[in-house]
Amino acid sequence: MWFLSFSPPNIGLKAMIMKRFILFISIIVFLGFSGLASGLAQSQEFQSQQPPAAKDEKLSPEPGPFGRALVIYYSATGKTGKVAAEIQAQVKGDLFKIEAVEELPKEEKAIIDLVKPYWENDTVMPIKSQTPDFSGYDVVFVGGPVWFGEPSFPLATFIKDADFKGHKVIPFGTSGSNYGRALEILNKSFKNAVVVPGAKIFDRLTLESEDLNVLIEKWLSTLTVGP
Ligand SMILES: Cc1cc2nc3c(=O)[nH]c(=O)nc-3n(C[C@H](O)[C@H](O)[C@H](O)COP(=O)(O)O)c2cc1C
Repeated sequence: MWFLSFSPPNIGLKAMIMKRFILFISIIVFLGFSGLASGLAQSQEFQSQQPPAAKDEKLSPEPGPFGRALVIYYSATGKTGKVAAEIQAQVKGDLFKIEAVEELPKEEKAIIDLVKPYWENDTVMPIKSQTPDFSGYDVVFVGGPVWFGEPSFPLATFIKDADFKGHKVIPFGTSGSNYGRALEILNKSFKNAVVVPGAKIFDRLTLESEDLNVLIEKWLSTLTVGP
């Protein structure tokens, strides 16, 4: 090969061959490293293509204080999600999130602007979520935020579509400071459900409390689900 052609008496040539040899070794080392690096990059890309851990893990729970419990919720800005997750943890249940078809902005004012026409025109807001199978659950918590003094529209759509087939339902919600008719509407909207008395809407002050978990625990202790 060109870099190994060797002629001893010529010192200049010898030096040149030495340089070429060093260059060759450098290229080999470089290629080795870049191959390793691209392998690493590919494996990172592979990892980033993996789906993120499921948000709402199916726990297949052992019966908790309410028997087998399912917590269904809608949440636009995360507050009801936090309450739902706390209820789920305390009752050792499963969690199911209702998803709206339309992607909503994160900021409350922008959400109001976007969803107001549904309210003004009394239009149903479409959701992606199918009604889950309630069989196998002793109790179903169902909650979401209050919008314009009513249950938020994706939650209302979910409730309208579902047949609760004699299941015990415990409604809950979150609001700013005035939940209007939301609780009253919730208590009478679940088709064929046995609605457990004691539904609660957690207001902004409660949601901001450091003791939210204790307040949820207290609320749960007031509920009598029966046999
Ligand atoms: C479109 C819209 C309408 C709302 N209307 C009311 C209302 O009538 N009364 C109230 O107290 N809070 C109202 N809020 C505040 C939410 O109910 C409150 O922030 C709730 O905890 C948000 O829950 P989330 O984070 O799970 O979406 C409204 C919020 C939005 C986005």
